[in-house]
Amino acid sequence: MVMVKKVNGLLAWISLALFAQNVLAAGAPIGDPVAGADKSALCQGCHGGTGNSESAEFPRLAGQYAGYIVKQIKDFKSGLRANNDTMAGMAATVESVQDMKDIASYFAQQKMVSDPLHKPNRKLAEKGEEIFTKGRPEKDLYACINCHGERGKGKAGTISTFPVIAGQHKDYIIKQLKDLQSGLRANDPAGMMADIAKKLSAEEVEAVAEYLSLQLP
Ligand code: HEC
Ligand code: HEC
Repeated sequence: MVMVKKVNGLLAWISLALFAQNVLAAGAPIGDPVAGADKSALCQGCHGGTGNSESAEFPRLAGQYAGYIVKQIKDFKSGLRANNDTMAGMAATVESVQDMKDIASYFAQQKMVSDPLHKPNRKLAEKGEEIFTKGRPEKDLYACINCHGERGKGKAGTISTFPVIAGQHKDYIIKQLKDLQSGLRANDPAGMMADIAKKLSAEEVEAVAEYLSLQLP
């Protein structure tokens, strides 16, 4: 009974977020990607010229929703997202909200390409796919696909609450899930992603990260 209530609460929250974002955003680009190409010169040093970074230390930003990128920059700047000091320092250099929007629009417009350095483990990816698409009803684990869309490609640019996670570096995904489990990362709205992460075993984290790293948005 308690479990049903919790899931219903979560679903109500999600519908409200979807509704608000659809009404507010109406699909228009939120910034100027051409201006953003120049303004993101520093960012490109770590995240890659087209947002397809090679090192798993630096998340890929190509094709990520602009609204999500802006939120993360703001969260690093304010200290709400406190799981990386280097990135907090970088966020501090972005002064205006207009700059955030332009930079975010530049990366959002890029196409994600597959990671040439990652050697796929198909068996592990199959396990990950099952967790991603079906969850684990026996332990009340809501399937990732409900919020992150098919193959992790996201729902729509107007629903940027739920990030694109397809094609992201495996080790970056693992780090985020661990940081959410430990509370080092606590900037997810209503704690909804931390709730999910805490239900995953170390093996499940690894499997779902392997699966997602092999997808493209
Ligand atoms: C010196 C390297 C470096 C530079 C330069 C840099 N970043 Fe980052 N960035 C990082 C690291 C490392 C992370 C991952 C933090 C973590 O481990 O959670 C990150 C994470 C992010 C994220 C979160 C992505 C996600 O999927 O949640 C965004 C957005 C971001 N950076 C945007 C920027 C922007 C915009 C700039 C330029 C103003 C920039 N970064 C410059 C190192 C860098
Ligand atoms: C109830 C909705 C919901 C479900 C289900 C969900 N997520 Fe999330 N997830 C989110 C939200 C919202 C965020 C963004 C948090 C923020 O704003 O910082 C997120 C963020 C993430 C991130 C960090 C992305 C980044 O670039 O920093 C990863 C990785 C992730 N989710 C993986 C998963 C996996 C794997 C599952 C399934 C086991 C899952 N999520 C299920 C809502 C959800």
